[in-house]
Amino acid sequence: MSDVDKHRLKPIDQTRRKLLGGLGSLAGLSALRPAALLAASDDGTGAGTAGRAASAKDEPQQAVDVDFRLSAEPDTTPILPGTPSEVWRYKAALITGPQDTLTPVGKGFVGPLIRLRRGQRVRARLENRLSEDTTVHWHGLHVPPDVDGQPRLPIKPGESMTVAFDVDDRAGLYWYHPHPHGPDGGRVGFQSYAGLAGPLVIEDETERALDLPDGEQEMVLVLQDRSFAGDNELTYLGGAGSMMTRMRGFLGDRVLVNGRPPETREVGTRPHRLRILNGSNSRIYKLAWSDDRPVTVLGTDGGLLAAPEKYPYVTLAPAQRIDLWVDLSAAGIGDQLTLVSDHYRAGTMAGGSNLPAGARFDLVTLRMARRERGVQQLPKVLDNRPTTPSVSPDTPTRTFELTMKMMRGFAINGRQFEGATVADDEIVRLGDTEIWEFVNTSMMPHPMHVHGLQFAVVDREQIGGSRYWNGLNAGLVDTGRHDTVLALPGERVRIALTFTDFEGFYLYHCHNMEHEDNGMMRYYRVRA
Ligand code: C2O
Ligand code: CU
Ligand code: CU
Repeated sequence: MSDVDKHRLKPIDQTRRKLLGGLGSLAGLSALRPAALLAASDDGTGAGTAGRAASAKDEPQQAVDVDFRLSAEPDTTPILPGTPSEVWRYKAALITGPQDTLTPVGKGFVGPLIRLRRGQRVRARLENRLSEDTTVHWHGLHVPPDVDGQPRLPIKPGESMTVAFDVDDRAGLYWYHPHPHGPDGGRVGFQSYAGLAGPLVIEDETERALDLPDGEQEMVLVLQDRSFAGDNELTYLGGAGSMMTRMRGFLGDRVLVNGRPPETREVGTRPHRLRILNGSNSRIYKLAWSDDRPVTVLGTDGGLLAAPEKYPYVTLAPAQRIDLWVDLSAAGIGDQLTLVSDHYRAGTMAGGSNLPAGARFDLVTLRMARRERGVQQLPKVLDNRPTTPSVSPDTPTRTFELTMKMMRGFAINGRQFEGATVADDEIVRLGDTEIWEFVNTSMMPHPMHVHGLQFAVVDREQIGGSRYWNGLNAGLVDTGRHDTVLALPGERVRIALTFTDFEGFYLYHCHNMEHEDNGMMRYYRVRA
């Protein structure tokens, strides 16, 4: 599809319509309230069919390759043994499109895996069956501003919004999650924590030609941490120390993989592909193998690397994705290999959770259950297309200093979120390539995310001292394409980005969700 067509296409049909009557609003943030959530979920009757009929009537019947409904709704689901937990979760239904477009992710609350192909035109009807505003943000996707799920376009409780876009990104693991931000601050942390997040895979020809492990040999793993109260209720930011929790970000007492406690999976003795999303609010994972073998990386946020790379471990900050290859063909039946998050030193900022930042824990254990022979080799070349926009000494640089505002959270160049307004130095030109440098002079790591595009990491440099957050540097994967880059305390990280195709407002922010919700987020504007 040409650029001209792209601009001419109406990117959004903001049909809103009542799905439900008014829902009571959730009281209190510290626990998800079972009664309120249950009441809300029981009220969903009829919304599906009534909504769909209406949609067929008044939405323009533009040809699309994939059409689905995605609703955000309260539910009850087992997480730990015993009482099921109240969650908010995404549920989806395919209207048209390939049968493998929507598949469940394990048995937990994680949103369904949405599998798209480059070149498809997609329409999604987003339904809010929650008691508060929400949005659906397609994290990492190059889509027009109005379908990007930004806080300036909330979907009200009981209403829906239909968005359409062309899949224009390289094969990779992306994801979707809410992005609401009201006068009292952001609700990204709360809503994601309640269970609203899911993985999205894009496939393309370049990737298909590689014949990478698929089917049972391809695992999508969503890493999140949670805390539970007495009856398995999820708790968030509760009690004493919540100011500190907001400053350093929420850390749960235990880690969940695909919405369940870590487990052992029986596998065959063949190569496997592990596609991992850090969907946690603030936790940084240090991914390593229990037998100390190197970690083989195939890809990052925005797709495949030029060639596989080996690291002693991989540092995965919130919102980042990593694509791993592990060859189990030399293992014997009954052998086990565990993917762990290894120890690092977060110092005084480690947090008071039972699982502080930098603690070591297991994520998934692979147990060789079947001898399987295959000839699958690790490809020597993955994706030859350039990842770095061409930068020269003349490429303009914008500097963003990441600082702490005493007791008011963190700021970007001294500013905090002010809705869809931009300062003069937050306006970029359509088609331009720039270098953005994030200078972290605070004592917390900040995973910096830019909406609407993938960028390249140009370099990083330690310009200030930091006594903490040590033991993560050797695992920073800076090659490839990214939408989120970790700036450790004392670091200056430079990225190169090009603003193509779409004019309008996009966000950039720290993806530590408590930082972002407390103001470490701004809009930037692309202007022709
Ligand atoms: Cu994961 Cu502003 O997004
Ligand atoms: Cu995003
Ligand atoms: Cu931050």
